[in-house]
Amino acid sequence: MARYAHLAGWGMCVPDHILTNDDLSRIVDTSDEWIRTRTGIRERHIVNEKTETTSSLAVKAARAALEVADLSPRQVDMIIVATVTPDYPFPATACLVQDALGAAHASAFDLNAGCSGFVYGLNVGSSLITGGQADYVLVIGAETLSRITDWNDRDTCVLFGDGAGAVVLAASQISGGVRATVLGADGSGGDLLMLPAGGSRHPASQQTVSDGLHFIHMKGREVFRFATRVMPQATREVAERAGWTLDEVSLIIPHQANDRIIQSSAKRLKLPPERVFTNLERYGNTSAASIPIALCEAVEQGRIEPDDRVILVSFGAGLTWAAAAVEWSMPLPVKPVPWWRVLFSHLRYRWAWLRSFARRALRKLAVILLGPAEGNGWLARLRTHRDR
Ligand code: COA
Repeated sequence: MARYAHLAGWGMCVPDHILTNDDLSRIVDTSDEWIRTRTGIRERHIVNEKTETTSSLAVKAARAALEVADLSPRQVDMIIVATVTPDYPFPATACLVQDALGAAHASAFDLNAGCSGFVYGLNVGSSLITGGQADYVLVIGAETLSRITDWNDRDTCVLFGDGAGAVVLAASQISGGVRATVLGADGSGGDLLMLPAGGSRHPASQQTVSDGLHFIHMKGREVFRFATRVMPQATREVAERAGWTLDEVSLIIPHQANDRIIQSSAKRLKLPPERVFTNLERYGNTSAASIPIALCEAVEQGRIEPDDRVILVSFGAGLTWAAAAVEWSMPLPVKPVPWWRVLFSHLRYRWAWLRSFARRALRKLAVILLGPAEGNGWLARLRTHRDR
């Protein structure tokens, strides 16, 4: 029996704090006019560095997506977090999310494919579902790019923002959901968009910090040229793989990096503006989070209806590109969540926190009682003492 991977839930989270172009013009030599005409961006959301992280945004987006899917975190088989700004190089941010959700039966890993990471994640998640290895996969794109942005570099600091978006992929025998994907990479362009230090090539040192190598480095014009080439190409390819003509596609949701890139791609594909979704004006480029955030807003604005054919298409660091053809199958609009389910969810996440706390405490207790290696802890010493 054929299996399909449907988008059964979706959710997003952006930090409260908004940084406008005018705010930026007080930090670097730029202007609202320059940023708007060259990029289409007016403002972006920025995390509170004391209270928010990539995982905290990811958890909120995931909770919202689970709510829409009416799914318990315990039913999730796998969590994929696409990010270039993980909380730590390791453990994976996906594991932090797994713990915070109390997704006790889920495996979890991070995926780094730059801004294409979310669509790469859809490919992996849907393949696991159609191959019968998972029933529910949570795919999250989450970023705190403000933490790796050089706020003195006007070439880059005007472009990026923070946020997270998530979808629940669910197995079904009803046809629909993710119908085709296209993935690509060209590592020869890796140096065009990179975070040079903090890895094995340039481990963190005073030198790397003073040279500013822990910030985003980008060759904007080259990335622009690459993007305007691969976006239309990947869109055409994925439509072809799904057996669709572009006329049958109701909406294209492109990676929200630069409005000029989006408009140039739309022009090449001969698509009218109403069939291309944009929201970068309010968020800037949120890398792997940009497509799931845009997807959530497209649904909220009634731009997607049941049975619509939607293409998600992205490009990013690597260099990478990715596209997914999705047949929307969930009923819309989503029914409001009743109060008792909100309360139940709240209790469930309190329970997840308690579970995590108890597991940490038990692990510490086990070391005290049994020792780092079994047999040399407090219990063993007690037994030796008694036997003497
Ligand atoms: N404010 C004012 N002037 C700025 C500026 C800013 N924030 N940033 C650059 N400039 C200046 C440059 O110094 C340059 O001045 P010069 O002509 O005196 O040398 C001028 O504006 C033009 O710079 P240029 O780099 O040619 O601009 P551009 O039209 O290519 O736009 C980007 C720059 C970055 C907006 C554009 O190249 C881009 O969007 N590239 C893709 C980046 C991207 O999407 N990255 C993420 C990938 S996931």
